[in-house]
Amino acid sequence: MNLVVVSNRVSRASANEPMTGGLAAALLPVVEKSGAIWVGSSGRVRDGAQKEPFAEIEALGTGALAMLDLPAAHYGGYYEGFANSALWPALHSRTDLIRTSQDDYQSYREVNSFMARALLRFRKPEAVFWIQDYHFLALGAEMRDLGVTHPIGFFLHTPWPTRAIIGGVPHHRELVEAMLAYNLIGFQTDDDRDNFLSYIKFDLGLDIADGVVASRFGTSRCAVFPIGIDPAKFAAHAAKAASHPDVSRLRRSLHGEKLAIGVDRVDYSKGLVNRIEAFDRILTLQPQLNRAVSLLQIATLSRGTIEAYGDLQNQLAKLVSDVNGRHGEVDWTPIRYLNKGYSQTVLAGLYRTAQVGLVTPLHDGMNLVAKEYVAAQNPVDPGVLVLSKFAGAANELDTALLVNPHDIDGMARTIATAFSMPLVERRMRWEAMMAKLRAGTIQDWFTDFVDALQDAHAASEKAAGQKVPAELPAVWPVRSFSSIGGTRLH
Ligand code: F6P
Repeated sequence: MNLVVVSNRVSRASANEPMTGGLAAALLPVVEKSGAIWVGSSGRVRDGAQKEPFAEIEALGTGALAMLDLPAAHYGGYYEGFANSALWPALHSRTDLIRTSQDDYQSYREVNSFMARALLRFRKPEAVFWIQDYHFLALGAEMRDLGVTHPIGFFLHTPWPTRAIIGGVPHHRELVEAMLAYNLIGFQTDDDRDNFLSYIKFDLGLDIADGVVASRFGTSRCAVFPIGIDPAKFAAHAAKAASHPDVSRLRRSLHGEKLAIGVDRVDYSKGLVNRIEAFDRILTLQPQLNRAVSLLQIATLSRGTIEAYGDLQNQLAKLVSDVNGRHGEVDWTPIRYLNKGYSQTVLAGLYRTAQVGLVTPLHDGMNLVAKEYVAAQNPVDPGVLVLSKFAGAANELDTALLVNPHDIDGMARTIATAFSMPLVERRMRWEAMMAKLRAGTIQDWFTDFVDALQDAHAASEKAAGQKVPAELPAVWPVRSFSSIGGTRLH
């Protein structure tokens, strides 16, 4: 088997460099070990006049990383436009934030089609394609239209909302129909899969048998594969990071005060405003906690050119300064608010320093920070995870303190409970969560999905009574490209 993994963002960073995005950071170690080719955006755009996609190809563990310059004329409409101003808000149940146009949709389809043509060079007889996330809902259909009959799977890292909400996305029907080109469609939770199947049944009027749907493309299986982490690796990072200057400086600065930590992209789905308001409530309702507890909120800036994100950045900066202004003292700041990223190693050390981990999104596919916080804890004195019941991770980490992020007072009370939880209870809850993390690692997720994809493809072939042609000519010949030109985006 030659596995080809495709995502918009790829990563080549080591554990010692800051990483952007849960997906890219999660995929890197497993892709490295699997020998797969990982294809994604180079972070540069290029005039679409070129005859073939321009790619940098470099070694990645036992496999390779192929980074494409996406077409300059369509990148904005694809990424900021349709992917992040139509799909992202809808997938997180914020249809009120949809701002998109027909041109954006056109660009989204153009980039999906461009990626499909680029992937033809990797179409070996044994190739298996695994497409990641909402940037490429239509990529499988574009590939099928180019004659690709290989296994093609898709995994959605975000939630999939109810029928009514997905109906708010322009061209929703066309997109969902296109998704049926995938042999296997993976979701983070049962709710996500059930919402998708309910759309298939009631909006497309298709029959479903055991999660399998038949369409003009063949059969597609819809199933749940909760993404995991490598808990042993994270624990090792946490132990190693204890002596890192950032971590020891943080410890020294606390003077016995207890710390809560939050690590998020600045995104309206993450519930940051509600979290800061809850922290404000704790300090107001329980003034004895002033100087006894504080919050470290790492908030990496994201998608800043989109209005909703720019507005949120301003709102959070004002809110934090307001809370600090009201509760702070000459020698004490309740909230440390940092707009920069840290490496996985340093993050693991920061998580272990904090007695409470706050992961309180309004909606989240999984949220790997929740899992990482747990894995980084000291087994003899673990911290407490306060987790939104609307994060996918809450299905597995059900011995965390689960909260409703819309209930600010309730969240404030729960955070205060977390700070004062006795050791015996902390250990019991933590051990139960660790058992779940060990039972579903990122490696398990990866192999389970790829195995299920091959089975789903075989089932589709059987149903259609077709055979995969032995070898198909690539539209563009495989050759090496040097890294020159292009306009850098980030
Ligand atoms: O679906 C989740 C995800 O892919 C995360 O991995 C990441 O945080 C985000 O969406 C994508 O972020 P970006 O737009 O920065 O690539």
